[in-house]
Amino acid sequence: MKILVTGGAGYIASHTNALLLEKGYEVVAIDNLSNSSPESIRRVEEITGKKIIFYKGDTRDKNLLEKIFSENDIYAVIHFAGLKAVGESCAKPLMYYENNLMANLALADVMSKHNVKRLVFSSSATVYGVPKKLPLTEQSPLSATNPYGATKLMGERIFSDLYNADKQWHIILLRYFNPVGAHPSGKIGEDPKGIPNNLMPFIAQVAVGRLPVLKVFGNDYNTHDGTGVRDYIHVMDLAEAHIKALEKIDNYGVEAINVGTGEGYSVLDMVKAFEKVSGKTIKYEFAPRRSGDVDACYANCDKAEKELGFKAKYNLYDMCRDLWRWQTLNPNGYED
Ligand code: NAD
Ligand code: UFG
Repeated sequence: MKILVTGGAGYIASHTNALLLEKGYEVVAIDNLSNSSPESIRRVEEITGKKIIFYKGDTRDKNLLEKIFSENDIYAVIHFAGLKAVGESCAKPLMYYENNLMANLALADVMSKHNVKRLVFSSSATVYGVPKKLPLTEQSPLSATNPYGATKLMGERIFSDLYNADKQWHIILLRYFNPVGAHPSGKIGEDPKGIPNNLMPFIAQVAVGRLPVLKVFGNDYNTHDGTGVRDYIHVMDLAEAHIKALEKIDNYGVEAINVGTGEGYSVLDMVKAFEKVSGKTIKYEFAPRRSGDVDACYANCDKAEKELGFKAKYNLYDMCRDLWRWQTLNPNGYED
């Protein structure tokens, strides 16, 4: 069974590809490599001993999509392709709307034409905006606080409208919380370009001496230690959630499902866990709050368990251990 994976060289996609191949699916991947390296495709092939059919190109390019759907009998699509940096989206909103929304439209159009109507879409906890009540359920109010979040909210809307117009579609909108960690082999992981925006890759780069000190953004939040609380989920668990979504997709029209662990950990909890696992001291200093950050954000995961039979298996230490293995084996990411 062939699965088309858009953004197929990216962080979450590469781990999902590894699991798809292990489970016996065939993977067809498309990526314009704007935020990734083809080396991730090669490494997934190395881990699994199986080939990926890779197309270098843009998901907005309908001619290329036509070619892919004509050359391959695609069963379903997992749509990861998108730009994802919140700060950059505030500085370059048009680039974000253009990339993320046009990719959705082109993909949906070509899928319709080829009568491929199973889709798993990478949504995000960012669609909950500033949480009013925790934990967040799929019924919690939705809002966007930045252009990136707006593209995810609009993506959900586009795909929901598509289903409302044509009930043959089966669409699962997976709302990821904070994906972290790496493949247990240490061969694939997150390889951010430049200085990482996100906490865990930043901590890992401090640990290997690539960055001098972690700035902890705010210590006056309304949380147990004053630092921001998030729901971190191991990327291998997240990959598993995609497999479950594919297995169950025909049961649904359009459905939004949270993918987290339901546990909230603070920045300092994460620093301590990483120190314990790595044996390194993470130098940190408190800095002002980062604009747009919320006190706390974590999921109610009942729906994923009930509907998909998915429950996260990995804990905080597993996430840190696997990230540390990836970082020590590849201190400069895929450049190594
Ligand atoms: P990533 O940047 O590693 O992967 C995205 C991939 O898409 C990259 O390889 C990039 O080159 C590719 N891409 C971007 N625009 C493209 C286009 N127009 N055509 C073809 N390829 C394109 O990011 P990731 O963390 O793996 O995220 C995957 C998806 O999950 C994204 O849609 C992201 O918004 C979403 N998401 C990520 C997080 C997170 O914290 N990592 C949280 C929630 C949701
Ligand atoms: N943080 C620091 N220092 C840093 C980086 C982060 O203290 O150098 C703190 C943040 O203030 C926050 C926590 O670490 O309290 C987590 O921050 P991340 O940037 O790792 O993650 P966010 O929760 O801000 O956002 C991530 C993705 C978004 C996505 C969201 C929900 O970046 O795209 O998770 O899925 F929308």
